[in-house]
Amino acid sequence: MPKILKFEKLESTNTLMKELIQKDGSNFQSTVIISKSQTLGRGRRGRTFSSPEGGLYISMTFQEDEFKYPTATAAVYTMLALKTLKKSVKIKWLNDLYYNNKKVCGILAEKVGHIIIIGIGINLTTRIEEFPLEIQNKAGSLFPGKIEKLPALRDKLTKELIETFYIEKPQDLLSLYRENCFTLNTEVTVNNFKTTYTAKAIGINDNFELLIEKDNIIRPLSTGEIILNPLQVDFS
Ligand code: BTN
Repeated sequence: MPKILKFEKLESTNTLMKELIQKDGSNFQSTVIISKSQTLGRGRRGRTFSSPEGGLYISMTFQEDEFKYPTATAAVYTMLALKTLKKSVKIKWLNDLYYNNKKVCGILAEKVGHIIIIGIGINLTTRIEEFPLEIQNKAGSLFPGKIEKLPALRDKLTKELIETFYIEKPQDLLSLYRENCFTLNTEVTVNNFKTTYTAKAIGINDNFELLIEKDNIIRPLSTGEIILNPLQVDFS
């Protein structure tokens, strides 16, 4: 089982993990870092990740050969762990989790040598107005304003995440991913670093790449991200 380090506040659980891996070298042991808030939370593509008190911010380490597809695996495992809080979230390709049309969880996988860091930020009780203005239209929480529940939610979810990632390691990831990815069979806008275009998302291949169809040509998308048209998302 991993070593568990808990903090009230950190710059970033992923950043601290990187520092520990570099410092300990070959003596580094599998570790979980948890923080109640982050002052410099990091997101994908060099973005910041808003990390106020109402969330759970966690980083876990694995050997690189433990997961072939760390980001997609993390999305499925986190989705399964959230079911114990009785919340049914859906996956936006590649690895954001949405609830009621809003992003409630972001995942950042990074590699240091042969070690993979999986960093997960989950908005639990944060109220809309506690998020920075520029993300208030797309960020959400699972239990907005229910601050009295926060300690128990964090503890339960932490335990569940550790069990899922380190002990249970559920299989059948592809089916779970495909069944729960709500960005399938919709028109999506692809933001592929240099270009932005609209296409239809028609499937997920065995490497968790998004199959997109444009002008009768089907292509796998491995990097980049898709932008949602909010009117197309229907959770009913
Ligand atoms: C994203 O949505 O772009 C990914 C966000 C990942 C945030 C988590 S919170 C825990 C860990 N520490 C970080 O600084 N980032 C990840």
